[in-house]
Amino acid sequence: MNNSKVWYITGSSQGLGLTLVKKLLENDYRVAATSRNAQALKKAVGVVDTGSFLPLAVDLNNVDSIDDSIQQTLAAFGQIDVVVNNAGYGMAGTVEEITEQEIRNIFDVNVMATIDVIKSVLPVMRKQRSGYIINIGSVAGFAGAPGWAVYSATKAAVAAFTEVLALDVKEFGIKVSVVEPSGFRTGFLTKNSLSYTESRIDGYKAVKDTQRRYLAGDGKQPGDPEKASAIFIELAESEQPPLHLYLGEDAYNRASGKLAAMTSELQEWKATTISADYK
Ligand SMILES: NC(=O)c1ccc[n+]([C@@H]2O[C@H](COP(=O)([O-])OP(=O)(O)OC[C@H]3O[C@@H](n4cnc5c(N)ncnc54)[C@H](OP(=O)(O)O)[C@@H]3O)[C@@H](O)[C@H]2O)c1
Repeated sequence: MNNSKVWYITGSSQGLGLTLVKKLLENDYRVAATSRNAQALKKAVGVVDTGSFLPLAVDLNNVDSIDDSIQQTLAAFGQIDVVVNNAGYGMAGTVEEITEQEIRNIFDVNVMATIDVIKSVLPVMRKQRSGYIINIGSVAGFAGAPGWAVYSATKAAVAAFTEVLALDVKEFGIKVSVVEPSGFRTGFLTKNSLSYTESRIDGYKAVKDTQRRYLAGDGKQPGDPEKASAIFIELAESEQPPLHLYLGEDAYNRASGKLAAMTSELQEWKATTISADYK
């Protein structure tokens, strides 16, 4: 009988999610993987031990569908040890030209689905008095680039949510991390995944330049999904995983540059900041 840890991963039919699912199965973990399209997911994963793999068709915009998938995972494996909130997509364009509905849709997937999966799994982990949740953020949520304001806002929300959740659930033995990658070689920048609004407004040079550079970078991103997957497993096996883990050299450089700039600005304006309190 397989008594290995049980992982539950969203957005598993391609990219980081798929690579992680395959690596986990190769290493004899038990895996419940969600996708909007279970057939595509099964095909992408290939032939595996069906006793270790539970492919689930889940609509991440539907709380009942999420709850049902958590219950199916429990019914199949009896426990849930690691949750990876991986499903998500990018959105590039000027805020003026992206529609309000498009903005609401990306918040539903990148932020609300993450929160809903966590709401659904927390009672299970509390009862177990153990569990580990990895939320996939992005370096863009901390140090964003022009033209990615909406996407950056979703990933900043994921990071802030993770920080406080970690404090809330610590007493139950539940650990939480936010993993914040820079460019990884997945479908992320392809037309299938990325929501891209080309700007028709004169100007917005910084936005247009950055977007041209990003789109030309598809297939050439330095981040290796295989290495990321091995790191996810290392995190889950670690006694004390970090709250934030940046992934990729570009992520490291951007995050450390932003921290230095923030520290310097915080000090420069310290007297003003403190002066706002009643004496
Ligand atoms: N690759 C990068 O450079 C990079 C950098 C920073 C952060 N990230 C984050 O990493 C995570 C994985 O992305 P990836 O790089 O592996 O990209 P990907 O190859 O495009 O895969 C994204 C996955 O998310 C799911 N997804 C996409 N749009 C969705 C929607 N509207 N509703 C529900 N699920 C949806 C898909 O799941 P199904 O089709 O199976 O349902 C898909 O498997 C995302 O959260 C992304 O924001 C990626």
